Order: sequence, then structure tokens, then C-alpha cells
Amino acid sequence: MCGIIGVVSLPGKTPYRPGVVVFRGLKRLEYRGYDSAGVAAIYNGRLIVLKGKGKIDELERKIGLSSIEGLTVIGHTRWATHGAPSDINAHPHTDCSGSFAVVHNGIIQNYRELKEMLIERGHRFRSATDTEVIPHLVEELYKSTGDVYEAFRRAISMIDGSYAVILISTYEPGKIFFAKKDSPLIIGLGDGFNLLASDIPALLEYTRRIITVRDGWIGYVSPSNVFIEELGRGAIDWSRYIRVVEWSLEDATKSGYPHFMLKEIHEQPRALRETYYGLIDDPAVGEAVKLLLDADKIYVTAAGTSYHAGYYYSLLLAYMAGRISSPFIASEYEVYEKTSGEGDVLIVISQSGETMDSLKALRAFKERGVRVIAVSNVVDSAIPRESDVTIYTRAGPEIGVAATKTFTTQTLALSWLVVSYAEATGKLTRSEAEEYRKWLGSSGDLAARIIASNETYALKLSEWMAGRGNAYYLSRGIGVPVAMEGALKLKEIAYIHAESYPAGESKHGPIALVEPDYPVLFVIPQHRELEKLLLGNIQEMKARGAVIIGVAPEDTVLKDQLDYWFKIPSSHWILTPITHTPPLQLLAYHTAVRRGYDPDKPRNLAKTVTVE
Ligand code: G6P
Repeated sequence: MCGIIGVVSLPGKTPYRPGVVVFRGLKRLEYRGYDSAGVAAIYNGRLIVLKGKGKIDELERKIGLSSIEGLTVIGHTRWATHGAPSDINAHPHTDCSGSFAVVHNGIIQNYRELKEMLIERGHRFRSATDTEVIPHLVEELYKSTGDVYEAFRRAISMIDGSYAVILISTYEPGKIFFAKKDSPLIIGLGDGFNLLASDIPALLEYTRRIITVRDGWIGYVSPSNVFIEELGRGAIDWSRYIRVVEWSLEDATKSGYPHFMLKEIHEQPRALRETYYGLIDDPAVGEAVKLLLDADKIYVTAAGTSYHAGYYYSLLLAYMAGRISSPFIASEYEVYEKTSGEGDVLIVISQSGETMDSLKALRAFKERGVRVIAVSNVVDSAIPRESDVTIYTRAGPEIGVAATKTFTTQTLALSWLVVSYAEATGKLTRSEAEEYRKWLGSSGDLAARIIASNETYALKLSEWMAGRGNAYYLSRGIGVPVAMEGALKLKEIAYIHAESYPAGESKHGPIALVEPDYPVLFVIPQHRELEKLLLGNIQEMKARGAVIIGVAPEDTVLKDQLDYWFKIPSSHWILTPITHTPPLQLLAYHTAVRRGYDPDKPRNLAKTVTVE
């Protein structure tokens, strides 16, 4: 996830110089990424670019981002995906002749093929980013079309993946060209100027009249005009799409959501799609599989929510590839470290890449010659830097302390890794692996449907839940880590004691606490065998008066057992963490709010724990 902004103005029409407008916009978009930033402008017919690694204020002091001159200015604040944060990888990116500059948010899936083709035609690339193919591609197509918009249009139609992209050119100094698919983009309409940005807060100082750009739209803005067409379907009457925003700036940072946590729950479909696109041709997956194939023992470690993702990985590896691994909580590394040695592999999962417990575990194992695979959401953070291979999730920055979108994207990346490994060992045939990958590819759309159809239900149920003092979250097999994650959410933000364990354990102790009205949540995967096993576990709880809340598929055979039912569209059990977690996140969120707590800032907790 990154932030992009652009302004094109007649002289003196914006309240500050366009360079300052862009700089202030970048500050408002900094929550979307902050490892590097840059601006570009057309000034006196020439393209100027200022960019570098670092936070926006730091760069302002060093290279004076806001001092850029010109009436057509674009800017970018980066959350690295392809290519580590560096001066060269920072956006804007330009073509060979310095005639086109581009900023982009998203992932270009087919950038390798495009890059090869462009290199063959003599283009010289400077960065390790996927984005740089765009200015070169437009430059190439401009040679034959002699028209910037036409070249841009053709370039966009050759790109696969997700993007919000804006481009400026010395050939058309008074326009900003844009296109959007999957990543957000908004047009702000001014008087004698127009703006483009990833999010509303960047525009609110200048206008409240906005157009939310839809997927598949492409066009350009000039100071007093807007042109939009739907790719392949011709121009559209954009005036029908203007809306007036009433939000305050503070509301707008959360895009209208009352809390970051709720916003991030709703961002899961996009985060999953971007992570999926990123995985498709990520060479790190092949490298990780190679390490795993050669591994004597496999260890898996992490803290908090990331541990639940790691535990899921470990179960899936057993189910799908018949391989045993040892998952452990990172702070317990000393117990396991001594059993490891050269030839072993450790998988470390950390969204921030900075958690001290996980980093310490990594270092201790490395010391003994263990090879390390990291799964992280932050490019170039400590854990990826010290690992042999890193597979990145592409969830974008997560601000709410309770992890949401980073958990579902971690489980997506880890499932992908297991499928690739099982295929390499011959446990899965090529077509079986393809089938699983197809399911994983549907995770974004499924998550969108699940969130939309369960939100009101979660809100309703939270009324009852808010009055409880305890809850059990139970499941079996691959559902257990999801139940653990659900219990953690409720306890950390709603401050209701919640415990999770494999459902078969009830009779060995926990059931002693169950009395009428005791909430027991069951995570019921799309898996007939597990459903059969869970039937007895549900009945023993019901017999003691427990209230049974199921997160279960639409066609579950257990529906008569459930007092409350979060319905999950029928899918595949491999997607259980992605399909079954969002309702539990929503329930915890609404319960916390009803109890009067701020879910974004739970007491005693920090987002990233860099101490032991
Ligand atoms: C903290 C956070 C948790 C998170 C854990 C691990 O305790 O409050 O939400 O799951 O750290 O974080 P990581 O960045 O390593 O995934």
C-alpha cells in the first residue's frame, strides 16, 4: 500500500503553491506508507524529480520536497513491495528520455515479461520496482502513437495486476493521466485546479467535491477539465459521480470508519488480492520450497496473532504434505533452540518484522546454522533482513493494535507455501495444486462477501456478548488456530476473558465452568469429517446450557445445533482462516465498542513489541 497525490493548476488558483499542496497531501497520506517518498513536476517544459528513502519530514529537510516548482505536480509515499526502500526505488519513476514520470500504488503482476521486452528494445532500468515498467512502456508506445493519452491507454491495457497510477509528461504539461484497478483513487474538483489522491484526507483542505474513481476507469485531469472513460467502453458522464464529502479531517483519515480496526477489517479483500498477486510470481516461494525440501527438521515461530498463522501453517503442512514441523511461541525459543542444527529450517512469521521475541529466536537458531524463512508485511524490516528468504504479505500498514488484515494475508501466504511444497514433493499433483491455488485466488472476493453479509449480525450479537464475562472458542484440526485468534481478539480489545483449545479437551477440565448462558463459539470448517467430530463437542456444551455460536458454512450439517450462526458461503477448508476469522474480528470489534472501549488502542498493549 502506498499513497499517491497529484495536482494540476492554473497560476495562483491553489491556496499554496502546487508543490506545497502535494507535500501537505503526502503528510496526510503518510499512514499508507512511509519508507520513502518523492515528487515530480513539469517546470519550464522539463521534468523535475526529487525523491529518496526516509520519512517525509526527513526528506523535506534534506531535499526540500515542497520546494518543487511547477503547476503540474505529483507525489508518492511508499510502502515497499517490489524492491527494498531506497533512493532509487522511491517513486516517481521516469522513462529513459525524462519525458514521463509515474507514481503507482499496487502490484504489476506481469512486470517481468514487460521489463524483458522493454530491455530488448533498448530501455535502461534503474530500479528494482515493478512500477518502472510503466514510464518505459508509455515511452515505447509514444514512439508509434505520438499521443500521450493513447500511449498511456495502451500501456494500461497491457498491465495485469492492481494499480492506482498517475502519470505526467513534458509532451502534455497541463494534464495528469490516471488509471485505476483495485487500488483506491479519488479525484478532487477545484476551481481552476484539479487533484488526484489515494484517499480523501489529502484533498479536504482544497475541495469537498470528489469523484471516487471506479475499477477500469482511465482518463486525465487538467486545471479546468476532467476526462474519464471506462477502458474499452468509451467516455462516461462523470458529473453523475460527483459527491460532496461532509467528513471532518479526523474522520477522513479513517475513510469514514469510526476506527482503524474496522477499516482494516474491511480492507481485507484488497489486502488478500494484493498478497495473492504478489505470490504468483514471487521467486522467494521457490527459494523457500527448496530450503524446506532439503530441511531435516522444520520449526515455526512467532508471537501473538502471527503465532496463530504459524500454527495454521504447521497443521496444514501435516494435513496436506504429511510433514511434521514444530511450532513454538517465540519467547520460548530456548527450549527448542538446542534441538536444532545445520540442515534445519526455521520459519519466522512477523507482520512488523521487528518483534524482539521473534528476532531473538531467529538469531539463536541462526547461530546454530539453521536456515531461516521469514514471512513479513514490512519490507526490509529486521527479521527479513536477517533471514535467508522472505515471503512478503501485502496488507499495507496496519494501525489498529489488534492484527486483522495481516493475519488473513499471512495465512494466505503460508497456505500458498504449503501447496507449493506439497506439489514439489509429489504429495499433490500439478492439477490438484492448481485447484488449491485457484481457491486461494478467490480469497479476496470471498472475504468481501463474508464481511458484507456478517457485519449486521455481528453488531446484533455484540449486544448480548457485551454482557458476558467469559467465553470459549473451540474447534478441531485446522480450525483450532482460527478459534485461538478469535479468542485473542475478544480478550485484547473487549476485555472479556476468552479461552481457546481443541474442542475434544472440554471433558478434561474446561467444561466444569460451563453453566446456562455461557458463550461457546465453534469454528466449523467446510470439512465433513471435522463437522462430525464437532457434533459431540457441541452437544456436551449444549447439555450444560451453553449458548452455541457457530461460524459455519451455509450447508453445515450442524445448523440445528446452533443458537447463533455466522454463515460462510460454501468454499474450501483450506480457506478456513480467511473465511472464518472476519466474523470473529467483527464480533470482537462491536463488543468492544458496545462496552465503551477504544479497539484501536487496547490497554497495556503495543502494536510492535521491540523489547523482550
Ligand atoms: C504485539 C501485537 C500483536 C501481534 C504481536 C506480534 O503483541 O499487539 O497484535 O500479533 O505483537 O507482532 P508481529 O509484528 O511480530 O506479527
